[in-house]
Amino acid sequence: MRQRKIGLVGAGNIGGTLAHMIALENWGAVAVVDIAEGVAQGKALDLSQAGSLSGYDSPIRAGNDYSLLEGADAIVVTAGVPRKPGMSRDDLVEVNTKITKQVGENIKKHAPDAFVVMVTNPLDAMVWVMQHVSGLPPHKVVGMAGVLDSARFCHFLSEALGVSHQDIQTMVMGGHGDTMVPLVRYTTVSGVPLPQCISEGMITEKQVDAIIERTRKGGAEIVALLGSGSAFYAPAVSALSMVKSYLFDEKRLLPCAAWLQGDYGIKDIYAGVPVIIGKEGVEKIVSLELNEQEKKQFDQSVTAVKDITAAAKKILAGL
Ligand code: APR
Repeated sequence: MRQRKIGLVGAGNIGGTLAHMIALENWGAVAVVDIAEGVAQGKALDLSQAGSLSGYDSPIRAGNDYSLLEGADAIVVTAGVPRKPGMSRDDLVEVNTKITKQVGENIKKHAPDAFVVMVTNPLDAMVWVMQHVSGLPPHKVVGMAGVLDSARFCHFLSEALGVSHQDIQTMVMGGHGDTMVPLVRYTTVSGVPLPQCISEGMITEKQVDAIIERTRKGGAEIVALLGSGSAFYAPAVSALSMVKSYLFDEKRLLPCAAWLQGDYGIKDIYAGVPVIIGKEGVEKIVSLELNEQEKKQFDQSVTAVKDITAAAKKILAGL
């Protein structure tokens, strides 16, 4: 039987964490590509040596050559430059558009049948660049943002409510930036809608508002604390859940940056919406009914996504 293969482009903090988690899951072969000399190779060797202790035999191949991706079933792209304290994700557009172009051309060449999860920021624009350059079908190219933002929202609520993460379901739509839209009406605690938790005094509206604000700035808070680099554990687990749903046809309903073709009244742009991921990639975009305020916030977020995508298009055209 053919062995499953997962490609990772970028062997930095997120890529290295992903390689470790995928090896621990024993999903198959892992191929790690990075332009930095020795980084991918060093991490692969280190991870391979952990195999005897952790009980995995997954071959972990690494190098600077994109041909390592040949025949990959799924690829997670984290190649790029992370934020420095005080920077917004959008400040990365120029450098990361160039990198994503190079990566996209190589995915087209070596793994045109892969399911590609983009992680590189500014996410919504970089996923557009990846799809455009690689020419892969839009349902096979998706961006990781909403899963992470929803996990952050969930964690802060869990702390404030004193309730296990497991019992909280959240939904964050829109772009992966300060305009993202954490949806209070679609957040539940073991089936109890969050607005009802507020009316029953389990949490105050003021607390929820502060949590929404903290979620929106969740990435920047970690960038400021780390001093160098950006968040990587939760981003890696988020991307992993998307890859898993594809590889194992789990049909998970996850908020992801997906190609919109009239959904939510929006066309020809990647933005964060709930989707079902299965063996075909993005198998369905789920249309939630949004009230006036939610729709307004979502449209504002999409406007921000359009602006940054337009900037990436312009940079790409000049390359
Ligand atoms: N091809 C392959 N790898 C590349 C390329 C390229 N063209 N350009 C850069 N890289 C590699 C770097 O050498 C580095 O090892 O990408 C890796 C990025 O790793 P980190 O700097 O540790 O960044 P990380 O925290 O993993 O985040 C990566 O995801 O969340 C976003 O904003 C973040 O855009 C950033 C990306």
